[in-house]
Amino acid sequence: MMMTMMKTKRKRMTENILLKMMNIGKSFASVNVLSNVNFELKSGEVHILAGENGAGKSTLIKILCGVYNEYKGEIFVQNKLCKFNSVHDAARTGITVIHQELSLINELSVVDNLFLGREISGKTGWLKRSVQESEAKKLLARLGLEIDVNKYVEEFPMSVKQMIEIAKALAIDAKIIIFDEPTSALNEPDVVKLFEIIQNLKKQGCGIVYITHKMKEIYNIGDRITVLRDGNYIGTDSKDNLLRNKLVNWMVGREMTQQFPERIPKLGKTKFQVDNCSIDDPAGGPFKVVKDISFKVREGEILGIAGLQGSGNSELFNGLFGTYGKNISAKMIIDDIEYKIGTPAQSINRGLTLLTNDRKLTGLVLNMSIADNVTLPSLKSFSKNGFIKRNEELNAAKICSERLRIKSHSVLQETQTLSGGNQQKVALGKWWETNPKILLLDEPTKGVDVGAKHEIYELMNEWTNEGMAILLITSEMPELLAMSDRIIVMHLGQVTAEFTREEATQEKILNAAMGG
Ligand SMILES: Nc1ncnc2c1ncn2[C@@H]1O[C@H](COP(=O)(O)OP(=O)(O)OP(=O)(O)O)[C@@H](O)[C@H]1O
Ligand SMILES: [Mg+2]
Repeated sequence: MMMTMMKTKRKRMTENILLKMMNIGKSFASVNVLSNVNFELKSGEVHILAGENGAGKSTLIKILCGVYNEYKGEIFVQNKLCKFNSVHDAARTGITVIHQELSLINELSVVDNLFLGREISGKTGWLKRSVQESEAKKLLARLGLEIDVNKYVEEFPMSVKQMIEIAKALAIDAKIIIFDEPTSALNEPDVVKLFEIIQNLKKQGCGIVYITHKMKEIYNIGDRITVLRDGNYIGTDSKDNLLRNKLVNWMVGREMTQQFPERIPKLGKTKFQVDNCSIDDPAGGPFKVVKDISFKVREGEILGIAGLQGSGNSELFNGLFGTYGKNISAKMIIDDIEYKIGTPAQSINRGLTLLTNDRKLTGLVLNMSIADNVTLPSLKSFSKNGFIKRNEELNAAKICSERLRIKSHSVLQETQTLSGGNQQKVALGKWWETNPKILLLDEPTKGVDVGAKHEIYELMNEWTNEGMAILLITSEMPELLAMSDRIIVMHLGQVTAEFTREEATQEKILNAAMGG
């Protein structure tokens, strides 16, 4: 009797375990990026994979889902030793990833993306288009999304793209679903929706691996947490045991109690003034995306521009920078001098630069080195008589790389082989090199780890102390509240509220962002 009970109990325990990765090791061209890493996933749990930028999280996941098939160690899925040769191979075993950089094909329709590689065809071999369409609609409906599935993916905002990517995971009936920083492009209400979806997946018995740099999310959605540091396994514990300070200590290897550095702004005269700014829809739609907005930013000030998806805040930045050409009307004044909107290059010359929120599209040239990226917009200062002063260029890149603590083998490493957070730091370094007077930052700490975030906040304080004016867009509310001296809130292209640092609260901002 006792024996049978023990046996069934043991059976239940092992059945519960969906995945075991043991002693995983991986190196790229003799550089070790993972060694002896262990990871386990149970059915019905959200297991957080945490660690600093470059710790090896995405690499571990890429091994799990068949992107890399040369590695050390063993992977067991439901007690069966597995070796995946491709992403398809892993998907057939029920493993799927919602990647850090989404893997949808923008130039294909929603339905084509959902059925890519597993098209439904009839007896004659013809695609059953209508079957696919109705299947696609059903999948999206499970996520509460009603969209035209024949539209190209590129026509949808990031939050919808994210849902389409999740629908892809549902479509293959995945048991193990991995989210690699899923909320980096989502706003608060979308995050709530995503968390509901995850809770549902848990109930259905799925195991979720969740990678994030956001503390709030770790403790909100996580059940257990595993920490990697410099490619090594540090430990695993339940979220109730692993409190914030200990977790940060595991991640960065030192004590770090305070998330935001103290900010004491030194405000000077008006640095940047924008009056009656309106911007046409860059996608050609009939409505303006920014409608008659006016604001001023002072020397040394950080002005937060809050807003949800569709608020027009990112479009405002792009319009001011010159990304949309002349599709903007506004009176613009930098240092008391009025000027007309020009190209991005002219903006940079005037001292106005923009860090975009999509480093993949507009932030970086991924197949170029760190050094080449960092010095790209300021190349003029590194050339003489038409020749590039390569040594000076490399030196500047090294200084910048150390200042921002970019984790790389050398400044000549190709940017696309850097971890996500380190790519973000390269993008920031690139604009820092242009010595801007006014810096427009759209999600500057997207994908950046706790330690490096702190460093970026300190840089923002330092730069504003030297007289720079910063405009800040961030979907991380604590960051917006801690770093902004003043906040204006946008809704559907218009300003719905303005708060001083003292007045601002999360509730007031969200309320105004939803139209007040
Ligand atoms: N294809 C590659 N070639 C060379 N090095 C690589 C390659 N891919 C990753 N690396 C290196 O492996 C290390 C781990 O990167 P990985 O992307 O796994 O980090 P991460 O933990 O996901 O970081 P982040 O939080 O920034 O996304 C980094 O130092 C990175 O530069
Ligand atoms: Mg990563």
